[in-house]
Amino acid sequence: MSAWAELWVQCRMQTLSQRHIIVAVTGSIAAYKAPVLVRRLVEAGADVQVVMTEAAKRFITPMTLSAISGHPVRHSLWDEDAELNMGHIELARWAELIVIAPASADTLARLAHGRADDLLSTLCLATTAELMVAPAMNHVMWAHPATRDNVARLVERGVKFVGPDNGALAERETGAGRMVEPEAIRDVVAEFFAETRGSGPLAGHRVVVTAGPTRESIDPVRFITNHSSGRMGYALAAACRAAGAQVTLVSGPTSLAVPTGVTRVGVQSAADMRAAVMSAVADADLFIGAAAVADYRPAQSAADKIKKTAEDAQLTLTRTRDIIADVTAEYPGVFTLGFAAETTDLENATRAKRERKKLSMIAGNLVGPEHAFGRDDNSLFVVWEDGERHLPQDSKQALARTLVEMIVERLADERATSNTDSQEQI
Ligand code: C5P
Repeated sequence: MSAWAELWVQCRMQTLSQRHIIVAVTGSIAAYKAPVLVRRLVEAGADVQVVMTEAAKRFITPMTLSAISGHPVRHSLWDEDAELNMGHIELARWAELIVIAPASADTLARLAHGRADDLLSTLCLATTAELMVAPAMNHVMWAHPATRDNVARLVERGVKFVGPDNGALAERETGAGRMVEPEAIRDVVAEFFAETRGSGPLAGHRVVVTAGPTRESIDPVRFITNHSSGRMGYALAAACRAAGAQVTLVSGPTSLAVPTGVTRVGVQSAADMRAAVMSAVADADLFIGAAAVADYRPAQSAADKIKKTAEDAQLTLTRTRDIIADVTAEYPGVFTLGFAAETTDLENATRAKRERKKLSMIAGNLVGPEHAFGRDDNSLFVVWEDGERHLPQDSKQALARTLVEMIVERLADERATSNTDSQEQI
């Protein structure tokens, strides 16, 4: 495993460390994967108590799960010994998160209707902890209107659904209904804690991200813009937030949903974007310029709509200010990641742009009809002071996560260097 990947795994472990999690197992064949989920959470440092329904015990024994979790498994409301140890109301209060994996169709129905006639349903009513469910059932059951209704009710109440996946099901059938794999559920749980509790490798960091195109007005109805979709910037904002940072997203016009926990400042022109960035970056230590900022704007924006009278029309353009170069000049302590959208000679152009703009890191990509803009995937050529790396074609979400991992590693290197420098001075 590479150093940065190890660092990321360590950070994830920290996110889960000492978290109080109830893993509830219900009656589905996917229950055989529950011990792996418990194992993954425990090895990441979480304190896990397992609750089983009566139906779950037909698929897997409580003994397996108590051995792995290190706590007796709870499966009855009427177990006097267990209640004396930690009553079910106490257990409901102890939990920061209840993960029901697998969650059967019956469990979803019972939760949707607020039942309280077994330990799990009672816990779910008695807790203020968040509820996460990983459904597992036959695809026809998942698609049934009754289940759809129950899911809609639960989503409306704030229950977080993880999956189900599409794929092979127990009865040698295929479809939507497969429980998401335990490692992926563990990652969602880690991200949940990073987002809501502010822990993670970028906890304590303030990040400003620019995204999307800008609009440079010609007159009240016309403007100059570009093809940027904003997807890379939004994915980076989400990845920074998931890593625990406080994120301000300064965005040109896009139709993308604002990632959870991110503060969005909407702007139109390059000048608006610069003003919003300069005010936000004063408190930040990380700046990511993923916006496709217009390089030129009309020298004058007409107050009234320009009439279609002349056969030819000229537009005089004037340069906009380079926002990211201004950030590096005014705030040299801020770590800056910029982008280079090139049509030819990607590597040299990217290296040169990093030097010219004095960026800590730059990610170059090819643009054009077959590349980048408006697409969900991309490939990047990343350059920093003493290294370079090609990131092969992947989704913008995956690339954003890798870029954040790389930033975390650079920040750790910078910290190590400044510690050594200050020790040498002593
Ligand atoms: O110079 P060029 O536009 O190719 O540089 C791209 C990088 O600079 C991107 O990170 C972009 O967000 C940033 N940029 C900026 N302000 C501008 C132009 C580009 O911050 N006016």
